[in-house]
Amino acid sequence: MDKIEITGGLKLRGEVAISGAKNAVLPIMTAAILSSGENIIKNVPHLRDVMTMGKLLAHLGCGFHLENNRILLKTKKITSMDAPYDFVKTMRASVLVLGPLVARTGHARVSLPGGCAIGARPINLHIIGLERMGAKITLSEGYIEVKAKRLRGATIYFDIPTVTGTENLMMAAALAEGATVLENAACEPEVTDLANALISMGAKIHGAGTSVIKINGVNRLKPLNYTVIPDRIETATFIAAAAITQGDIRIKKCRPEHLEAVISKMREAGVKITPKNDRLTVRGPERLSSVDIKTMPYPGFPTDMQAQFMAMMAVADGTSIITENIFENRFMHVAEMSRMGADIQAEGSTATVKGVKSLNGAPVMATDLRASASLVVAGLAAKGTTVIDRVYHLDRGYERIEEKLKMLGANVRRIK
Ligand code: EPZ
Repeated sequence: MDKIEITGGLKLRGEVAISGAKNAVLPIMTAAILSSGENIIKNVPHLRDVMTMGKLLAHLGCGFHLENNRILLKTKKITSMDAPYDFVKTMRASVLVLGPLVARTGHARVSLPGGCAIGARPINLHIIGLERMGAKITLSEGYIEVKAKRLRGATIYFDIPTVTGTENLMMAAALAEGATVLENAACEPEVTDLANALISMGAKIHGAGTSVIKINGVNRLKPLNYTVIPDRIETATFIAAAAITQGDIRIKKCRPEHLEAVISKMREAGVKITPKNDRLTVRGPERLSSVDIKTMPYPGFPTDMQAQFMAMMAVADGTSIITENIFENRFMHVAEMSRMGADIQAEGSTATVKGVKSLNGAPVMATDLRASASLVVAGLAAKGTTVIDRVYHLDRGYERIEEKLKMLGANVRRIK
């Protein structure tokens, strides 16, 4: 198992380019199932999760090839409708094949995802939506089986704005008979990117990016040739890395307009951020100020940045209250940060972070993707050396992060 070793205390300087968005490319890959032909996806990050999704699509009969940040996906024939537990247990986003498979073949059998480190993460809202569209659902041996001659358009209200739930049902509705309205839909930029990819295939979708999305089903969609948006969470993670190291960096190939809540909170913490078209400059203050955050669905403060922001608050001046409203168990990084000398009290969905003078490097363990990113951010500022174990979590969502950090002057290396 690879480890990452960071010797902290260096101010980040220089320029970094952001890769394509993991949480946009994954649903756009499954959207290709809705067409029969050769699909091209560009600006694709080389990530573990992208390879896992590629293997799953290959298992379904698709031809998958990733090279130089470009995917070629051949979806002429689908030979299996099964998404086995092995895929789903390593990556929950595998459930994104559900909607497209049913829409294309009338049948899908997907292993229930089971929980993960950050919470139970059920898919009941995905299932309720498919039932509303006329699908017959059976649950057996840990698998959900969905059957439908042809899905019918329906009006679906989400109790909670679910990102992949919105994406699954938007894809299912694209080939359904009649009109579908998704209410209380997720507004994340990745949902909008998927909608734009589907529209480029001939889908009729209005309102993506708002909480009411209207989809008029069509009979056929053509293969996609689409360029994925930059990763807003990778961008925000590099902002945090510059903020915590009194850094001065330029971030290229990003979309500042996807980060309003994060930029606002960073500015409150004393970070100087100057957005300009597809780039922004970040200047970290001598000492960060404590800021309270509450994670919320987009456009609120993203849960995927909660851990990285906590690392910053661990060395800020004062006390910050961090409330995690999306997932029930997303404070796994607290124990590891405490081992680095952070003063954090987690109680239910709230963590109280008392800023300390500085953190000390220590051997720590990553538990999930964004927790591992927060330990990198903490390690960059800590005195001494931090060794992060189980970096496969990090590789799921960050393309060559240690190389990008090295380019910014960090003292970081991967230990095979
Ligand atoms: C997506 O997960 C992202 N993953 C997550 O990013 C992100 O943290 C999350 O959205 C929230 O923004 C991808 O896009 C591949 P949800 P998703 O459905 O869709 C509850 C990362 O680090 N819920 O929006 O699984 C659920 O338990 C990952 O890149 C139900 O109760 O999240 C959670 O509390 C981590 N029933 C809340 O809704 C359902 O049927 C939001 O979950 C669906 C969700």
